[in-house]
Amino acid sequence: MDESSKTNQINKLNDKNQIVSPNSEVIERALVKDWDKEIQKGEDMEKYWALEAEQFDWFKKWDEVLDESNKPFYKWFVGGKINLAHNAVDRWIDTNKRNKVAILYANELGEEVKITYYELYREVNKMANALKKLGVKKGDSVSLYLPMCPQLVVSMLACTKIGAIHSAVYSGLSSVAIVERITDINSKVVITADGTFRRGKVINLKPVIDEAVLECPSVETVIVINHTGSYDDGANLNENEVLYNEIIEDESDICPAEMTDAEDPLFILYTSGSTGKPKGVLHTTGGYMVGIATTLRKVFDIQEDDLWWSTADAGWITGHSYTIYAPLLLGSTTLIYEGAPDFPDAGIWWKVIERYGVSKFYTAPTAIRHLMRYGDEYPNSYNLNSLKVLGSVGEPINFEAWKWFYEEIGNSKAPIMDTWWQTETGMHMISPIPVADLKPCSATKPLPGVHVAIVDEEGIEVETGKKGYLAITNPWPAMFRTLYNDEERYKEVYWNFFSNLLYKTGDMARIDEEGYVWIEGRSDDVLKISGHRMGAVEVERAFNSHPAVNETAVIGKEDEVKGQVIKAFLILNEGHELDMSYGEGDVTLKDALKMHVRHDLGPIAVLGEIVSVDSLPKTKSGKIMRRILKAQEDGEDLGDTSTLDDL
Ligand code: WTA
Repeated sequence: MDESSKTNQINKLNDKNQIVSPNSEVIERALVKDWDKEIQKGEDMEKYWALEAEQFDWFKKWDEVLDESNKPFYKWFVGGKINLAHNAVDRWIDTNKRNKVAILYANELGEEVKITYYELYREVNKMANALKKLGVKKGDSVSLYLPMCPQLVVSMLACTKIGAIHSAVYSGLSSVAIVERITDINSKVVITADGTFRRGKVINLKPVIDEAVLECPSVETVIVINHTGSYDDGANLNENEVLYNEIIEDESDICPAEMTDAEDPLFILYTSGSTGKPKGVLHTTGGYMVGIATTLRKVFDIQEDDLWWSTADAGWITGHSYTIYAPLLLGSTTLIYEGAPDFPDAGIWWKVIERYGVSKFYTAPTAIRHLMRYGDEYPNSYNLNSLKVLGSVGEPINFEAWKWFYEEIGNSKAPIMDTWWQTETGMHMISPIPVADLKPCSATKPLPGVHVAIVDEEGIEVETGKKGYLAITNPWPAMFRTLYNDEERYKEVYWNFFSNLLYKTGDMARIDEEGYVWIEGRSDDVLKISGHRMGAVEVERAFNSHPAVNETAVIGKEDEVKGQVIKAFLILNEGHELDMSYGEGDVTLKDALKMHVRHDLGPIAVLGEIVSVDSLPKTKSGKIMRRILKAQEDGEDLGDTSTLDDL
């Protein structure tokens, strides 16, 4: 045990600039003990990733690690044949993990389901066979609209087993969003559930799918999971609907894994950009697996006895990569939880950690801030000693939240891994590992094998300590390969912004003297509402589709809990005022607009403020300058307004 590391351990953090070093227990247990050395290993990028790739079961090994001949369309592990479900499930059943719990499902009703690797294997095979019977073939797409339930994991794995591409839509999104996502990829099959448990109620999901499917001619079959019990007494299904339990019941529990190519598409996940249309981020198989499994293992020091809990819903990239796929690829146990973080009370998460002995816990700053408001007595009434490493993702974490998470949840002994990454990157990119010296609120350094730079508009590196665009300078295995059906936009948005083919992240950042990265917010019109990514244009479009609205500009307004909420500036049509009653009953136009936007975008569009204005700042060519509104809102200097139209 190293004495100096012992003395470095900090119990109370008072100063933002304090360095937080790992304690001896963390160091002793860690798989990777030397951070710098590990980063050095990543210098020989191809060698580094190839070594990690060796750990999987390949049907055929790759011929070439990285193909850069057609930039920015990079290829990894070229010529390799591999199947994700085989590596996440089948591979374990002939080992001593056969009867290990793969998925530990818990929900707000206090129910739990434990599924071993062997049980998961059988269920995935049955579902894969059922999908084949419904006509799903390699390369077909299947849309998922599901709550966090075991069958969701089974459905994703069943798709990957047969080489079908899944596209999960977050269960809080509206039917409008679902239609957009299903029609873009022409899914033949949709998998959904009757409903989900949330805050003591059942939220129905099926009616949302019913409404959406009416507008999706490609959909031939809807598979319904009887999750909340609506179909316990028999099912009243439409012609094109089947029950999950019924279709898998008589299927064989054996299904050979499709020999997918390393570069075959694995899934599409839609995310928001700075234009209105959501982007279909396409991930492929081999590199993605290598990237997510390696980063989870190193960043969270995953070992055989760990119980991993990532609170992210599978409707988002964190859910795909780290709630579901990576822990299974490592043969670990992943806890999936269905319910709100504050129901039945704000101690529920801490209760779950105590009950099961969660050792690695990964969540978002917005949730930490929310739970922090309820006071220390909630975490303090549970034994959270099992926690060894904590993680944060999705948005910048502020010092107060970092401190609370570290002291009250991690008992000043579990280091916080502040992981910076994106839907597009597929895997963690900038993050510490447990043995790293932490600077609170910095995501620290690029992970081994990842290379970033802070650059100006030309793509030229800025001086150390200066703020600039965060760019990624080298390809990485879990990188997305394109935007579905939109190669031009892929090139344009991400790779052609700088002249030298760097990847543009859309974030601003600076790197300090010691090489630590500090994220400084977005450089584009993307908002982060409670960690959910949303384009300003999408929200504006939702407002504009209301008959009382002429034009809208939307910005992210800082919010203590949610990070950002939406502030909308509206030009209303003649004769309308926000406080006037609108339609029937006691509803004002403002209320009606809130409902309208919520219907279009789902409850994740949290509206902070709606104001009515006479005009909006625009460029001479008519583009709304949200930057000006934002600067006014934050009381900042308006910056360069020379392109502003002075109407
Ligand atoms: C932001 C989520 C600061 C950032 C995995 C990024 C973060 C966007 C962090 C991607 C972090 C994510 N610190 N900001 N640790 N992690 N972000 O696609 O703006 O939903 O570009 O992926 O979230 O959001 P996405």
